[in-house]
Amino acid sequence: MTTITVLGNGRVGGNLATALTRAGHEVRVADRTPGAAAEAARTAQIVINATPGAGSLDRLSALRDELRGKILIDVSNATVDGPDGLPAALIYPGSSLAEQLQEALPETRVVKTLNTMLFPVMTAPATLTQTPEAFLSGEDPRAKQTVRELLSTLGWRSEWITDLGGIHTARATEAAILFVPPIIRSNGLAPFAITIAR
Ligand SMILES: NC(=O)c1ccc[n+]([C@@H]2O[C@H](COP(=O)([O-])OP(=O)(O)OC[C@H]3O[C@@H](n4cnc5c(N)ncnc54)[C@H](OP(=O)(O)O)[C@@H]3O)[C@@H](O)[C@H]2O)c1
Repeated sequence: MTTITVLGNGRVGGNLATALTRAGHEVRVADRTPGAAAEAARTAQIVINATPGAGSLDRLSALRDELRGKILIDVSNATVDGPDGLPAALIYPGSSLAEQLQEALPETRVVKTLNTMLFPVMTAPATLTQTPEAFLSGEDPRAKQTVRELLSTLGWRSEWITDLGGIHTARATEAAILFVPPIIRSNGLAPFAITIAR
């Protein structure tokens, strides 16, 4: 059992919190109530960022003390939305939110994952008709191993998890958000994951 704080209680945060609780973890969810995130982050072993990517850097930088020594799992995507509300452009072209977070939080081990799929797949990977894939980006191999183990409690088989390397590789997975609007426009909100065919 791991003590986990989920920042954000929307589609992603709520879904992850429910599934992680069912999997036997002790989960707290922090909404935007002042002080809630700091209090919940202080007591957790792992913190998950499931808040909008645009404000994530400021939000999490303010939790520098609370996040010291912890694993921060970042599942967010930092995008500028188009008129239809769907992602239209990257906020950190030539970099990534995950890299910015790691730079701002040098004593926190940032692991980027799960940002390349629609939220229901994060907690039910076996429901797709093809093999899904979850990518890992991060500097610390032990932190990535811990995240692998956590993902396994959500149904992710180890062969479905691909370690891309250091935190800079989050550029690739964050850029994959640009696939999402055209896929949603043509297929609706049917669950999908970006996967490398082999
Ligand atoms: N939806 C997907 O399928 C999907 C897939 C992969 C990655 N992501 C990424 O995951 C993140 C969350 O997406 P989502 O679809 O769950 O969005 P969402 O449904 O809009 O939920 C966002 C949550 O963050 C909360 N929030 C906003 N500002 C906050 C703050 N200052 N402090 C604390 N909480 C705050 C919101 O609270 P309020 O309700 O009070 O506004 C809401 O609970 C985004 O970065 C998104 O790019 C989404």
